[in-house]
Amino acid sequence: MRTQVGIVGAGPAGLVLSHLLHRQGIESVVIEARSREYCEERVRAGVLEQGTVDLLEEIGVGERMRREGLTHYGVNLRFSGRTHHIDFRELTGGRGIVIYAQHEVIKDLVKARLASKGQILFDVEDVSIRDFGETKSSAKPTILFRKEGEAQQLTCDFIAGCDGSHGICRPSIPDGVLTLFERVYPFAWLGILAEAPPSSEELIYAYHERGFALLSMRSPQISRLYLQCKPDENLVEWSDERIWEELHTRLATTEGWRLIEGPIIQKGVTGMRSSVVEPMQYGKLFIAGDAAHIVPPTGAKGLNLAVADVRVLARAFGEYYASGRQDLLEAYSKTCLRRVWKVQRFSWWMTSMLHLWENENAFDHRRQLAELDYVTSSRAASQTLAENYVGLPME
Ligand code: APR
Ligand code: PHB
Repeated sequence: MRTQVGIVGAGPAGLVLSHLLHRQGIESVVIEARSREYCEERVRAGVLEQGTVDLLEEIGVGERMRREGLTHYGVNLRFSGRTHHIDFRELTGGRGIVIYAQHEVIKDLVKARLASKGQILFDVEDVSIRDFGETKSSAKPTILFRKEGEAQQLTCDFIAGCDGSHGICRPSIPDGVLTLFERVYPFAWLGILAEAPPSSEELIYAYHERGFALLSMRSPQISRLYLQCKPDENLVEWSDERIWEELHTRLATTEGWRLIEGPIIQKGVTGMRSSVVEPMQYGKLFIAGDAAHIVPPTGAKGLNLAVADVRVLARAFGEYYASGRQDLLEAYSKTCLRRVWKVQRFSWWMTSMLHLWENENAFDHRRQLAELDYVTSSRAASQTLAENYVGLPME
């Protein structure tokens, strides 16, 4: 098999890249380890930045998102029993977010790719890559894999490693090339999906002396809630009753608000870390999304950062194939990393401000409350949260 760009991974990064390339007349083949059903049902995050929303609409996969997604122009910070609204519309000149589950985005992208005769090979096994280290045009990067038990090879001009944090592309880069920058947090999130109408129009991020809690949603009938827990939390110790009791406590207010309960239909624990590898390219291999960086979910940036990376990569490929320009490809990593590190900063800041740190003391608790008071009482401070949350400009 042969194509122009071989893409490993059918997550947001791989599928958006494939569709952006198709719209420029550039061929690609997406190689995916999991089944289509698994990819389209995998419960992940659900906040789309304004830039991501605009891009999905621009490339023709925004219709269902606009119909079923929930458009929000703000979030709430809750602490000391009081709720403070951050008004995105007012603070960012009308920008907002759309709450729309990542696996719904995946469904829309897969449908669009297949409708455009795009090639997505699901259920592949034993994927490996080779001959990607040379930049000379004669080099023929190759993706090797097994499909239905048959060994196959895909030769390409370039390989895009969109295979997430447990993929094979980044580890295929020779030792000594990459530098890993990482911070692992001493807590995790216990997340639930519940058949309960969301108890708030917009998201509520709550700082509490027992730990962080977040109220989000998926639809007018489905709530998505999280609470800070130990990094090695054992879900068996968390009955539905205990989860709801902790959420009631951490989200409690003196404002007459009530959390609506319902049957829990999914629960899981997500570890939290910030990590970046530099550079995000080697020879004819370009890594994007979670394959290159991980953000803690507090800033709701994972999917959005993946999309931002592949916008840069798709433009660079477009210029190369249109006119032979190599400079954008050569600058891919540098271009992406400038925005990646600013998003890492914001995600770290939101995480630091809103979570309980076991190793910190009463001074730090007061300091966090003062920071929350400042962010919610200063226009300048709330504007910095708002402009980062709705999404910084694309590079
Ligand atoms: N071969 C083929 N496919 C692979 C391999 C492999 N060896 N390893 C992983 N994959 C696939 C995974 O099955 C997954 O479908 O690569 C895809 C990577 O997708 P994501 O992990 O979603 O990564 P990305 O596209 O960068 O999107 C980042 O997804 O995981 C969330 O929180 C993350 O919101 C963020 C977003
Ligand atoms: C979600 O709805 O899953 C969600 C929302 C905001 C976050 C993280 C997750 O910061």
